[in-house]
Amino acid sequence: MAREKANSQKKKMTGKKAEAPAVEQKAAPVKETASVKETVPVKETAPVKETASVKEAAPVKETASVKEAAPVKEAAPEEKKEEAAPAKEAAPAKKAPSARKKAAAGEKEKKAAPAKKKAAPAKKKAAPVEEKPVLVEEAAPAVEEQPAPVEEAPVVEEVIAVESNLPRRSIAFIGSECHPFVKTGGLGDVMYALPRELARLNCDVRVILPRYACIPQEYQDKMVYRGEFYMDLGKTGRNYYVGIMEYIWDGVVYDFIDNQEFFSVGNPYTNLVDDIPKYCFFSKAALAALNYMNWIPDIVHCHDWQAGLVPVYLRTLFKDSPVGRAKSVLTIHNLRFQGVYNIPTIQYWSGLPNEVFEMGALKQNWVDANMLKGGLAYADRITTVSGTYAWEIQTREYGEGLEEHLRYHSGKLRGIVNGIDYGMWNPETDSALAENYGLGNVLEHKMANKLALQRELGLEEDTGKFVIGLISRLTNQKGLDLVNAIIPQVLDGNTQVVVLGTGDKQYEDAFRYYEGAHKGTFSACIQYDEARAHRIYAGADALLVPSRFEPCGLTQLNAMHYGTLPIVRETGGLKDTVEPYNDFTGDGNGFTFDRYDAGLLLDAINRAKTLYFNNRYHWDEVVQRDMAKDVSWENSAKQYKQMYLELTQW
Ligand code: ADP
Ligand code: GLC
Repeated sequence: MAREKANSQKKKMTGKKAEAPAVEQKAAPVKETASVKETVPVKETAPVKETASVKEAAPVKETASVKEAAPVKEAAPEEKKEEAAPAKEAAPAKKAPSARKKAAAGEKEKKAAPAKKKAAPAKKKAAPVEEKPVLVEEAAPAVEEQPAPVEEAPVVEEVIAVESNLPRRSIAFIGSECHPFVKTGGLGDVMYALPRELARLNCDVRVILPRYACIPQEYQDKMVYRGEFYMDLGKTGRNYYVGIMEYIWDGVVYDFIDNQEFFSVGNPYTNLVDDIPKYCFFSKAALAALNYMNWIPDIVHCHDWQAGLVPVYLRTLFKDSPVGRAKSVLTIHNLRFQGVYNIPTIQYWSGLPNEVFEMGALKQNWVDANMLKGGLAYADRITTVSGTYAWEIQTREYGEGLEEHLRYHSGKLRGIVNGIDYGMWNPETDSALAENYGLGNVLEHKMANKLALQRELGLEEDTGKFVIGLISRLTNQKGLDLVNAIIPQVLDGNTQVVVLGTGDKQYEDAFRYYEGAHKGTFSACIQYDEARAHRIYAGADALLVPSRFEPCGLTQLNAMHYGTLPIVRETGGLKDTVEPYNDFTGDGNGFTFDRYDAGLLLDAINRAKTLYFNNRYHWDEVVQRDMAKDVSWENSAKQYKQMYLELTQW
């Protein structure tokens, strides 16, 4: 609020770039909240709890032999739509402001007495006037039983062959997190790594992010004021401040959308009541900022539900503005989170025309609006982060209620598997490690990292032990109830387990319990710690990823690149990136199991142990094979580039 007042005293901005002050000028003073931390706070990673319709995956089968499991409650609460949603039928204008807790006070004042509204004079808005929306397709009837075959990724050789001639394209990435500014999971990694790789492929990339207060000060200090304007939002009757702070780094431009009212809370995600207005604002402001900067991309590439409204805005309110000529791509990183609320509230905050609240677009279950669903309907292309997940999400088991919608749009859906950034993840140069190593000397130096890890975590220092790591958000998605059920059997005297993660209390408590019960052999690091994660990838022998579902998964890729063998469930990207070890041929990258079943996970761990203890020579072969495996972004970025080119053949 203070910021808005200060800004309103500044000279009037027209919403056009001419007024942007000299580059060195610092932004309108950022309120230095005491809570600005040095590290990105990553407590709750599961952004919101929603989708009432989420299907339960197959329940964990209790193996008869499970003894002494720590008390973990039923692992489903994250799926409940628990928010105090305003009554659906009520008039939105009354509802929405009361729904939004934090900004509420100021909001209400303005709402109650609109005449008093600060003479935030009708600044020329960056957003164009509402236009007739494009027609919304009707959802297809539920006829198909099988998912439509997912378009295969283009053959890489072809792409490589034309690499040097790839024409330039400009891409605006729009998403809610990006390493190293703010990261709660793999989305942050992708938003960092993919633009950098695309820049190498002759793309001009701009990443548009919210300017959260939790972005470390070191980066806040590097941002340069790029301009500001005011924008209306939905039916709020207000003009909102949109500041643009810019940071150019390694060929990628980062533009942070500044508005203290929406982004001053510590964590990026809080609850739907706050997050729905926040990301309506962000999606609209991102497009308005592109117009304001007069930087019109060929492609607007949006990520997850937080940017789900961008394709919808692009084809409605922004249709006849300069950015309206861009094509849009929407990438699903995690279908579980969709941004669902009652229609009046989303109408109120988004200001989108009635036509988009149809069953073919945002509307679902006849009463709710689903921001991701709308984006999927309007995007020119939909991608997700592995081929298997692209197939799975068209099934009832993994579709999170959107399977029919996705089957309907399957013609524009494809899977492109994630990679990892070899600059960020490189055991040869990683400054967090006790000893650096590469493919040539992993066998000598990995042991030193194991010992250092055991020392750091207070585990028995013995290189002969088999060390299993788990680095994860502690949520229902990640298969932690399976892990919890078998820990007593895994800890056989020759095995140690290290868990690094934060999340649902029930899992945190369970792992703390095991640490207490098995001092020296079980370590529970209930924290978010990047450097420690690197040391676990390097020091462990194997890494567990037994997920219930996993769109791609990055931890198994990091692990392989550090010579640590993954033990994974065959789902989503885990299935696509980890080939099961074959006892007869010696082929493969890790150990896998298929059904979501604690006994099968235990069996996979035992197969890994058997190879490790009985046949170290072959184990070491797999270590080296995994380190040599190409898990970089190179091939996948080429597939994205190819898709951008397909979309923009002029
Ligand atoms: P998701 O996005 O579903 O959380 P991914 O496997 O795609 O899963 O990405 C997780 C990313 O977050 C990896 O880079 C992993 O190393 C990192 N990570 C997860 N938990 C922690 C933690 N507690 N401390 C440090 N890094 C973590
Ligand atoms: C999501 C998924 C994860 C994926 C990541 C990056 O958070 O849960 O599987 O790797 O996004 O795409």
